[in-house]
Amino acid sequence: MNFKILASSYDRRWKGYTDRSLGFLVERLRFGAGEKILDVGCGTGNFESKWLSRGGTGSVTAVDPCVEMIEIARRKWVGKDPVDWQVAGVQALPFPDEMFDAVISANSFHYYKGPEQALAEIRRVLKPKGVFWLLDWCRDFWTMKALDLFLGVAAKDYHRCYSQSEIQNLLGEASFAVESVETRKISPLWGLVCVKGGKA
Ligand SMILES: C[S@@+](CC[C@H](N)C(=O)[O-])C[C@H]1O[C@@H](n2cnc3c(N)ncnc32)[C@H](O)[C@@H]1O
Repeated sequence: MNFKILASSYDRRWKGYTDRSLGFLVERLRFGAGEKILDVGCGTGNFESKWLSRGGTGSVTAVDPCVEMIEIARRKWVGKDPVDWQVAGVQALPFPDEMFDAVISANSFHYYKGPEQALAEIRRVLKPKGVFWLLDWCRDFWTMKALDLFLGVAAKDYHRCYSQSEIQNLLGEASFAVESVETRKISPLWGLVCVKGGKA
């Protein structure tokens, strides 16, 4: 997917998907008022809209490497509670060590070309008792496996999606302890995995 081109139509085209997928994540989250949350691969800010409209608390920083996505997020956000929007990719997060109480990666892990480096970077910016929430496509569903094979040859920016056990292994190798893992089919096509982890 080319997010530079897709940015302006992303919210309209993916509304049903983002509502259902982010709903699956947001209903699990509990953060305290002063907690610092980092959303990696925030896109046009749909997690922020959903989280804060449901009364979610915390101070949110959101990054995405695609300038066009961040510009849309900023425009949508005018007049609402401040979110610190920044252009950055997961491979080099522009934050000091142990800054965040929680890091979220929603619907973007399948684009990370170096998942090991991405996880090391997420772990670096997480506080010792911080939580990492990963929501992504799950290759255990045959529809997602088929989509993964197709996008692997057809989409330049796509990297790959993982099975539940592959994700757990990646997290384990990156010194995360997995606290919970759930999978859910949110439509006949889309099958997701939602993982909660912390520093091992
Ligand atoms: C499908 S969108 C998801 C956006 C948002 N999290 C949501 O759920 O609506 C995937 C996003 O991942 C971003 N992305 C791609 N590669 C990335 C990377 N290396 N680091 C961080 N984000 C990345 C894309 O620019 C895009 O905005």
